[in-house]
Amino acid sequence: MIALDGPSGTGKTTVARKLAERLSAGYLDTGAMYRVITLAVLRAGTDLADSAAVAAVAGKAVFAIGTTPGRPAVSLAGEDVAAEIRGPEVSHAVSPVSAVPAVRELLVARQRRIVEDVVAEVGGIVVEGRDIGTVVTPDAPLKVFLTASAEIRAARRSAQDTAAGRDTTHAAALASVDRRDKLDSSRATSPLKPAEDAVHVDTSELQIDQVLVALTELARKRG
Ligand code: C5P
Repeated sequence: MIALDGPSGTGKTTVARKLAERLSAGYLDTGAMYRVITLAVLRAGTDLADSAAVAAVAGKAVFAIGTTPGRPAVSLAGEDVAAEIRGPEVSHAVSPVSAVPAVRELLVARQRRIVEDVVAEVGGIVVEGRDIGTVVTPDAPLKVFLTASAEIRAARRSAQDTAAGRDTTHAAALASVDRRDKLDSSRATSPLKPAEDAVHVDTSELQIDQVLVALTELARKRG
């Protein structure tokens, strides 16, 4: 079991999926779970500042998330929302929604169940998020915290947005990355922070393949 944490734009998702493929393990994108709940909250027209109302929508949302590293499906009430949850509306609202303690409680419990099931089924899993090594699976034998400079992360984010056909500028991507970092790191409940025993990898100057080689090596030793 490998816990992969870090802010957005560090290459976390790409690395997590490729690593899971190489190790023939399952994969869980916990960010997608916070995003799908956020989409449910937005669709319900809920006031983001009303934590109780946000928690109520989260409690009722019927969603599913795939655990294969190829192209994991994400659905809300049976509808494929894999593309929509990456859009600007959800990206803007996801940090306040994920700061609601009841939302975290609900999703952490579900994440632990998924991890248990996938480990029982295929023998291993790579889990990516913000609080995996600290809260979700603190017993993971390998915890990795990916970092990269905000400039580099914004450049990667805007390249991804452009590739996905979304309008963007470097300045907008930088502002969005900065804003989410601040909100995610300063929230009271399980803020973004490395586990004490996490291996830190700065991906600013590294290609994805270099990161993968380093992590595959670590995983073979301890994952
Ligand atoms: O990883 P991704 O950028 O898709 O995550 C979207 C948001 O979901 C993060 O900015 C953060 O607010 C929240 N998140 C979280 N805990 C996790 C994973 C994601 O709070 N384990």
